[in-house]
Amino acid sequence: MAQLSGETRVLGVIGHPVGHTSSPAMHNAAIAALGLDYVYVAFPVRPEDLGQALAGIRALQIRGLNVTVPHKVGVMALLDEISPEARTIGAVNTIDHSEGRLIGHNTDAFGVMQSLRLDGGLDKLPLRVALLGAGGAARAILYGLLQCPEVENVALLNRTADRAEALAAALDPEGRRVVPGTLDEHSGKVVGQAGLLINSTSMGMHPHPDASPLPDPTCLHPGMVVLDIVYNPLETLLLRQARQAGARPVDGLGMLARQGARAFAIWTGMEPPVEAMRAAALERLGKPSA
Ligand SMILES: NC(=O)c1ccc[n+]([C@@H]2O[C@H](COP(=O)([O-])OP(=O)(O)OC[C@H]3O[C@@H](n4cnc5c(N)ncnc54)[C@H](OP(=O)(O)O)[C@@H]3O)[C@@H](O)[C@H]2O)c1
Repeated sequence: MAQLSGETRVLGVIGHPVGHTSSPAMHNAAIAALGLDYVYVAFPVRPEDLGQALAGIRALQIRGLNVTVPHKVGVMALLDEISPEARTIGAVNTIDHSEGRLIGHNTDAFGVMQSLRLDGGLDKLPLRVALLGAGGAARAILYGLLQCPEVENVALLNRTADRAEALAAALDPEGRRVVPGTLDEHSGKVVGQAGLLINSTSMGMHPHPDASPLPDPTCLHPGMVVLDIVYNPLETLLLRQARQAGARPVDGLGMLARQGARAFAIWTGMEPPVEAMRAAALERLGKPSA
């Protein structure tokens, strides 16, 4: 790490817990690669202390923060401004502290769309997309998909159908492009019609690496891109099934690095060194969790 000085500017992440985060590794790698006088640290903030933490950003002149679980929604009421994108998504993952104002952004939609283009080779998305899950990540992903006019139909499948319906109604109120449904043993038919499948459920994530969100993988087919945003482990059962079916697998590391890179650009105004960030996250993920 570069020498810290009286001029060093502070970046960080707030969450609870934050011990598992790969953000310090990613951002400090970017800072080192560009030789900037910044440092990035993790701040564990309990939900009941969120207001004090936000006051602390102002008092300590922290330049910017990432926001992770469980604060992505709660933080919104404490900011001076929220970007239209973050407002529509309904969650903030990045705070820009600029000229005394706290401005909330959401960089997850950007991260996932960049990953689909650059890691998945999709200059244009297919007409039909299947999105599994209706949690926090799904909101940002669905927002990103709906920004692409070429996407005509998104099958939004979730274990709890009510959540899929509520998310579809929130982001596609006229019900023109999003078709909510239940993720179950009958999902294969709908998924098989899609040119792009995105898993945003936590199924397959550590400590359940033998779980797949798709009960029957025979619906996966060549020509399909399969993005699994789970990044621990990096190669999930779903991605192995995709590879075996001749589909193109894309892991969650690209989205992780690219959402972080977007935040870094917001804070520093610099072109982020995405590959250095990706490599640092990969190294961090390779280390056994403490
Ligand atoms: N690559 C990245 O940059 C990135 C970014 C954000 C998140 N992620 C990863 O994405 C995953 C989801 O994150 P999130 O923040 O959206 O979580 P979340 O808000 O808690 O949502 C979890 C989702 O998974 C579903 N789910 C959980 N357990 C399930 C099970 N046993 N069977 C079927 N569905 C199940 C939930 O369905 P119900 O609604 O039915 O409960 C819900 O749709 C996590 O693994 C997270 O690490 C990756």
